[in-house]
Amino acid sequence: MKRDIRSELSGNIPADLMEMVPRSFDILGSKGHAVAVIEIPSELEQYGKVIGEALMRVQRNVKSVLSKSSERMGEYRVRNMVLLTGDQDTEVIHKESGCYFKVDPVTAYFSPRESTEREKVSSQVSPGERVLVMFSGIGPFAICIAKRQPMAQCIAIELNPYAHKYCLENIRLNKVGDRVSAIMGDVRQVCPALDEKFDRVLMPLPKGAYEYLDVAIPMVNPGGVLYFYHWAQRNDPFSEGERILLQAVWGLGRNAEITERVKVSQYSPSAWKIRLNAKIG
Ligand SMILES: C[S@@+](CC[C@H](N)C(=O)[O-])C[C@H]1O[C@@H](n2cnc3c(N)ncnc32)[C@H](O)[C@@H]1O
Repeated sequence: MKRDIRSELSGNIPADLMEMVPRSFDILGSKGHAVAVIEIPSELEQYGKVIGEALMRVQRNVKSVLSKSSERMGEYRVRNMVLLTGDQDTEVIHKESGCYFKVDPVTAYFSPRESTEREKVSSQVSPGERVLVMFSGIGPFAICIAKRQPMAQCIAIELNPYAHKYCLENIRLNKVGDRVSAIMGDVRQVCPALDEKFDRVLMPLPKGAYEYLDVAIPMVNPGGVLYFYHWAQRNDPFSEGERILLQAVWGLGRNAEITERVKVSQYSPSAWKIRLNAKIG
């Protein structure tokens, strides 16, 4: 039977601190080679290496253990991380729903926790549709859509050069180069230059997508769907996002019907990441 990280640590950490050892952590990678990302409470900082080593004994495929040392920051939405133990090279290939995603979590955003959301969104795409993925990162939405709906075409736009480089590699790895194109740049400049409209426009940047609604809405075909992500208050998750979205739509002389309201994941005890689907008229 697989041992739990706390039992693995017994005797190495004072008993009164054991309760604080996190039982859950993210694992990115494969059965052969993975990286773990863990959040160590400040009280346990001096035991970081010991915790990392215990984690590697429990999860034999983990070759490096990274500890989160900041929130996600800046435009690229990556966090500072400290290597607790293991291999300096933290690049892995993560497998999810038949897709392969090469990524180094130190340089580019990727969350294995969002696989269900990617599945849900990609299942909505129909043959022949054109999809724009703004803020596309290493390409998980575009690639998931292209794998699931081979008759759709996707354009993925990303600002972080490391994430864009991985997106290009992931397009090759997943053999979807005939239906996914990746562009590096700021959506504010790239979108207007595309000079076309899309059946679906995804905005997977919960922190700040609302600042780009003026860019995204004109990219949606009449009758097409905008996927708007937003950070929301737990006690009233949808009102603020709906108000911001509808005001932006009306301000641009379009109309919209909210067709889906989804609580995607819990970001903190008080905040949720939500998605609103809006059919844009
Ligand atoms: C929350 S991450 C999501 C990445 C990806 N969609 C995913 O689900 O893994 C948001 C991404 O948007 C990118 N980004 C932020 N501002 C941008 C902009 N103005 N234009 C293009 N990409 C941007 C960041 O670099 C980051 O990779």
